[in-house]
Amino acid sequence: MLEKELILTRSEIDRRVEELGREITRRYFGKDLVVVGVLKGAFVFLADLIRAIDLDIAVDFLQVASYGHGHVADGPIRIGKDIELAIGGKNVLIVEDILDTGHTLVKIRDFLADRRPRSIRSCVLIDKKERRQVDIVADYVGFVVEKGFLIGCGLDYGERYRHYPDVYSLTGL
Ligand code: PRP
Repeated sequence: MLEKELILTRSEIDRRVEELGREITRRYFGKDLVVVGVLKGAFVFLADLIRAIDLDIAVDFLQVASYGHGHVADGPIRIGKDIELAIGGKNVLIVEDILDTGHTLVKIRDFLADRRPRSIRSCVLIDKKERRQVDIVADYVGFVVEKGFLIGCGLDYGERYRHYPDVYSLTGL
């Protein structure tokens, strides 16, 4: 039987998002910034985060083609939807819901770096350590969570639960 355990409450998430927004605002003050959300999972966090950033930003989205779990680890990245904005010479902030094995973020970063942006940084709502396979550190981390199958705030299980305002760990899978 599926059961869910509360991991992050909406009010904790709201507070942390405000802090991240302030940090990002300070770092990019007076500079351009293109925020790139990675679909689908990032859309909820991204919507919250950009409203906490007090800068004149541009927003775009990218989606990695899905081939089931673990697809990103081997071979070149396959893009389902590319960004539409030109990022050459711009500051780019990649926004993800979760950093898990790390393969997705490494490959997206390299993919976008080929377009010669001025800088690339990353912001993840959750840094989950349990399954990390590559050495990557996000520049901005909302929360570190050691383990668990997480749902809510954009994170899904078979496309369900993305809309939950809080984050839960799902058990009994
Ligand atoms: C999730 C998440 C990240 C990726 C992280 O996406 O949104 O993009 O996995 O995993 P990794 O660090 O192990 O590479 P998923 O492929 O589940 O697609 P979704 O965002 O559409 O849910």
